[in-house]
Amino acid sequence: MHHDLAQQTALVTGATAGIGRATALALAARGADVVVHGRDERRAADTVRRIEALGAKARFEPADLSDPAQVTALADRAGAVDVLVNNAGIFHFARTVDTTPATFDAHIGINLRAPYLLVQALAPGMAERGRGAIINVSSGAAGTPGLGSGVYGATKAALESLTRVWAAEFGPAGVRVNAVAAGPTRTEGTAAYGDAFESAGQAVALRRLADPEEIAGAIAFMACSEASYVNGATLAAMGGQPALG
Ligand SMILES: NC(=O)c1ccc[n+]([C@@H]2O[C@H](COP(=O)([O-])OP(=O)(O)OC[C@H]3O[C@@H](n4cnc5c(N)ncnc54)[C@H](OP(=O)(O)O)[C@@H]3O)[C@@H](O)[C@H]2O)c1
Repeated sequence: MHHDLAQQTALVTGATAGIGRATALALAARGADVVVHGRDERRAADTVRRIEALGAKARFEPADLSDPAQVTALADRAGAVDVLVNNAGIFHFARTVDTTPATFDAHIGINLRAPYLLVQALAPGMAERGRGAIINVSSGAAGTPGLGSGVYGATKAALESLTRVWAAEFGPAGVRVNAVAAGPTRTEGTAAYGDAFESAGQAVALRRLADPEEIAGAIAFMACSEASYVNGATLAAMGGQPALG
């Protein structure tokens, strides 16, 4: 693996599980030091250990992203960040009449406000240094929401919109902002859906679920110099999910 991200620091939110952990490892394999964010100390220690085994540096910075004060404190503790991956997210599916204000607020707070506050806090430093890459993890639900994924899909659609806004705001200073829209992926978070989720893989052109490493590869591409002219884009890592209407 070439060390495209040597001397760079990456902050990956939600790096204690699933796509975030695989992303933290993929960035470390490309030479980045990684700030591992999440809440679960045991799983964070495992991610840190696996990054160190790759010869990269890692440290755990916990924060509950539903609390805006903890989000800004996380940004302060992270220091100078070159690569920000807004990965942490929740997905609690319910139809509109069954969605409580608490569920609504949790999605907005974790999936949308937290990335917003992190970009607000960290992108200006990247702009000052003249380089940086921000990758927002979106979902097929942004463009083609299913029944029950209304609030979740709305947060991801908003994140894709903000991706384009931030690309325009920070691009002139050399900071690229992109999104990766993931298809159905086998993670700790989706394990709870069992067989129902397995069948989501059959709706994809590739006829299978993704492994987290396959989404992480797309995110790492966006972080690296191979994507140096890619800005404001959303890369669909969805197995050809919407290939035909
Ligand atoms: N898996 C899929 O099929 C799929 C498809 C499309 C898009 N996505 C998106 O990909 C991202 C990752 O999904 P995943 O399936 O890998 O998730 P996951 O396995 O459920 O892991 C979620 C991660 O987010 C963190 N997190 C959740 N709530 C948090 C909070 N309030 N404060 C701080 N951290 C919090 C968790 O940390 P702790 O457990 O340590 O708190 C964990 O590291 C999400 O944005 C999701 O919407 C996933």
